[in-house]
Amino acid sequence: MTDASSQYHVPVMLAEAMDGLNIRPDGTYVDVTFGGGGHSRAIMDRLGPDGRLFAFDQDEDAARRVENGEWRVEDAARFTFINENFRYLKNYLRLHGVRKVDGILADLGVSSHQFDVAERGFSTRFNGALDLRMDRRNGTTAADLVNNATEEELAEMLRLYGELPNARQMARAIVRYRECKEAQGSEKESKGIATTSDLKEAVRRHLPHGMENKYLAMLFQALRIEVNGELEALKAMLTQAAELLTDDGRLVVISYHSLEDRLVKNFMKTGNFEGKEEKDFYGNPLSPMRMVSRGAVKASEAEVAANNRARSARLRVGARRKVNGEK
Ligand SMILES: C[S@@+](CC[C@H](N)C(=O)[O-])C[C@H]1O[C@@H](n2cnc3c(N)ncnc32)[C@H](O)[C@@H]1O
Repeated sequence: MTDASSQYHVPVMLAEAMDGLNIRPDGTYVDVTFGGGGHSRAIMDRLGPDGRLFAFDQDEDAARRVENGEWRVEDAARFTFINENFRYLKNYLRLHGVRKVDGILADLGVSSHQFDVAERGFSTRFNGALDLRMDRRNGTTAADLVNNATEEELAEMLRLYGELPNARQMARAIVRYRECKEAQGSEKESKGIATTSDLKEAVRRHLPHGMENKYLAMLFQALRIEVNGELEALKAMLTQAAELLTDDGRLVVISYHSLEDRLVKNFMKTGNFEGKEEKDFYGNPLSPMRMVSRGAVKASEAEVAANNRARSARLRVGARRKVNGEK
């Protein structure tokens, strides 16, 4: 790993992820969340001349690193970067003539770089546009969302995706604040809530004393999940991963909040997102996946001390199993 990539993002649970992938030097692998390329670099280092790595990231800043050569690729024939959402994993791999892969890695959420750029709006630390899109080529920003959603929609989103105990009060405060701003503003600049500071100001009275940062992080998490359709993309990717993996091919997922981790755990155990075990007439499990890791793997104390982002990380390893009757 180069210095530049460690500044962009320090990879979390690198050794555990590589163990989980169980890399074959001549295999084909996919890193669906390239970010700063720390995990991708470690995969490349384990591949021989016939191995291949495909990396996805929907963020143009990640793509620029590859395009500008900030992420060194000694052997371009072995590495392909795809600047797209991993919800289209199967289609883009097919475009490259790939129908089966030996391992897939997903290190979910946002990179440190995304957090550190004020105008992307990911961090509660800075004042910036309330954007929160990972892919700025399309979609609704968080500002659009908080200015246009109804109070009920906001409350539901904050409850579901932020797990905020006072979601209803926060939603009400956001709606009051935006109405106030709109009433005050001239026609030209009646933007309601436009910046991260506006949003923080709107909910200020609803942040319990001593837990201000925690509640703000939960609020921003909720908006980020909604703006980026994160849970839908994760479900689509997991479903396609099971179809793409060769027998015993590995799926390694690192998640950073319980909503993601629950989907990953259920899917690896049962092949569906409800965690419902289904069996055939003879009692054989119908799931295309089996769980390899025992429980969720957490980062070591030493890693958490060195990299605070590792604190909430949960890594799970699943493998593709041959389902009865399948060709
Ligand atoms: C935690 S970072 C990955 C860091 C990376 N493992 C490393 O070692 O540098 C997550 C990255 O995944 C990307 N990402 C998140 N969801 C995505 C999606 N649905 N499709 C494509 N990229 C996504 C983000 O843009 C971000 O760059």
